[in-house]
Amino acid sequence: MMSKQDEAKKAAGRRVIQEFVKDGMKLGLGSGTTSHFFVRELGKHVANGLKLTCTTTSRSTNDVAREVGIVLTDPNEIGELDLTVDGPDEIDHQFNMVKGGGACLLWEKIIAHASKRMITICDESKIVKTLGAFPLPVEVVQFAWKQTERMVAHALVQHGIKNAVIERRMRDEQPVVTDSGNFILDCRCGVIPAPAELEIALNQIPGVVENGLFTRESQGMVVGRFDGTTYVEL
Ligand code: 5RP
Repeated sequence: MMSKQDEAKKAAGRRVIQEFVKDGMKLGLGSGTTSHFFVRELGKHVANGLKLTCTTTSRSTNDVAREVGIVLTDPNEIGELDLTVDGPDEIDHQFNMVKGGGACLLWEKIIAHASKRMITICDESKIVKTLGAFPLPVEVVQFAWKQTERMVAHALVQHGIKNAVIERRMRDEQPVVTDSGNFILDCRCGVIPAPAELEIALNQIPGVVENGLFTRESQGMVVGRFDGTTYVEL
């Protein structure tokens, strides 16, 4: 049986299709479980004749899209996208987000910026007053990653985050390597007082490829509640 949280994620995906996805659109498909529910729902509409040109934000979403019969276009061939639909790890009411729990933040940010519009889909548990409870992922090149980590720690202190704990993400005792061949540093911040400034500062550090703060991308959210209802915030 599906959990209430998964039902809420699925409901958000259905609602975003109803309200925001239009025939003929060029669409960016996000990553993570919420986005995968959305992609599976979208597959049903495509099978019923909805015409879309789609590209994705991760190899895992490529697999789900192909499984449900969505033909994918190379991101280099698609041009400007009309809409990207993706999920957050945390989102506040100004649509600032932490993303990258699934290590796909770099491709997600590229595709979000290549789009005229981004709408976020989530269940209600992802909404926060202030970002920072979810560890902030920072994607770094493998070379000298410990030097980069020191500089990231320094930037966090400069932005009011005093006791952050930074850990290189591991799985099965091996470092996680992203779709672009990089490591992820998870930064336990507690609270992020100035997300927009920190997003820019982190990206100025040599060795940082991208970070999981998304402060300029999303123009709205479609939220699934655990009671089965949904709402839109724009
Ligand atoms: C992957 C992401 C995901 O979009 C984010 O982690 C949300 O995932 P989920 O829908 O499984 O909670 O940023 O890098």
